[in-house]
Amino acid sequence: MKLVSIQCVVILLLLYASLQVTETQAKTQPKKVVKPQTVTCYNRKSKCFLKYVKCPIQCPQVQPKDPNAKGCFLDCYSPKCEAVCRTRKPNCNGPGAACYDPRFIGGDGIVFYFHGKSNEHFALISDVNLQINARFIGLRPAGRMRDYTWIQALGLMFGTHNFTLEATKAEKWDSDVDHLHFSYDGKGIIVPEGHSSEWSSPDNGLKAERTSNKNSVTITIPGIVEISANVVPVTEEDDKIHNYQIPFDDSFAHLEVQFRFAGLSPRVEGVLGKTYQPDFENPAKPGVAMPVVGGEDKYKTSSLLSTDCRSCVFSSGEVVADESSVAMEYGTVDCTSWNGGGNGLVCRK
Ligand SMILES: *[C@@H]1O[C@H](CO)[C@@H](O)[C@H](O)[C@H]1NC(C)=O
Repeated sequence: MKLVSIQCVVILLLLYASLQVTETQAKTQPKKVVKPQTVTCYNRKSKCFLKYVKCPIQCPQVQPKDPNAKGCFLDCYSPKCEAVCRTRKPNCNGPGAACYDPRFIGGDGIVFYFHGKSNEHFALISDVNLQINARFIGLRPAGRMRDYTWIQALGLMFGTHNFTLEATKAEKWDSDVDHLHFSYDGKGIIVPEGHSSEWSSPDNGLKAERTSNKNSVTITIPGIVEISANVVPVTEEDDKIHNYQIPFDDSFAHLEVQFRFAGLSPRVEGVLGKTYQPDFENPAKPGVAMPVVGGEDKYKTSSLLSTDCRSCVFSSGEVVADESSVAMEYGTVDCTSWNGGGNGLVCRK
C-alpha cells in the first residue's frame, strides 16, 4: 500500500517536471512574426492620398505592445509617401516639441523660447476647433529678471469637450511612482498604470494610451492632434547647469511634450500654433543662440480651460471639418469596415 502511494507521488513529480520543461521550451520559442499593418492618408493634398503603404518589417504595427518597440508612422505632410519607424515618446528635437524651460520647436522647425510666467496659463494652440493651454510652474531665483518656467499641465478644448493632463507635484522625484493625472469634461479619469493601457471617451472622440508603465502617455483626438508626453523632474544636473536654485522640497515635475497636428486651419494662433500658419515668418532667426519669443499679452488665458486670450480664435461647438486637414488614418479593421471611432481604416492583406 505504502509502496503504491510512493510510486504515485514519483509519477506525479515526473509529470510535473516534464510540464515545466515544455513550458520553458514554449517561452524560448521564437515569437510569432507580426504581419505588417497597412496605413494610408485620406487627404487629397497628401502624397499618400489613398495609397496603401505597408509598414516596415522593423515596426510592423502602429501601436506596438512592446514598450521599447518603435511604432509605424506615415507622415501625410511628407513629400515622400513612405511609412517609417518612430519612437512613440515625445521627441524634444522634433517639430511641435515643448520641453525643458520651455523650449519650443515650431512647425517650421525653428527653435525658440517662451518664458511666460509661473502660475499662469498661456494658449499654445488656439484654432477654430482646438484649443490647447499650458499651465506654467516655476520660480524666480533672487536677483533674476524673470521667472524660470516649465509646463506642468495641458488643458484641451475640442468640440464641446475638455480634457486635462497634469504632472502631479513630487517633492522628491521617484520614477517608480506615476505622476500623471487626467480629467475629461470636468471629472477625474483613471488610465490604469501599465504599458498600452488605454482610456477612450464615451464617443471615442479622445483616446489616452500609456506608452510606458508610468509617466508616459499619448493623447489622440483623431484627425486633429496627437500629443505624446512624459512627466520628468528638473534634474540636479539641469539645476547645476542653469543655476535654477530648485528648492529641496520640490522636483518641479513637469511635462515634455510633442504635438503632431493633423488638421490645423491657416488661422491657427497660440505660442506654438502661430508657427503653423502658412505665411508665418519666425522672428526667432535660425542661428541665434537662444531666441526668445514674446506674446505673453496675446496668449495669456485666465485658467487652464478658458479661451479668453486676446488672440484666441477657438469656438466651442460642433467640430468644423477642414478641407486642408491632413491625417494619417489607421486602425485594426479590414478595408471594408469603418471602426466605431469613425476614424480608422487599415487594410489587412
Ligand atoms: C468641461 O466640460 C464639462 C462638460 O461639458 C463642463 O461642464 C465644464 O464646464 C467644462 N469645463 C470648463 C472649464 O469649461
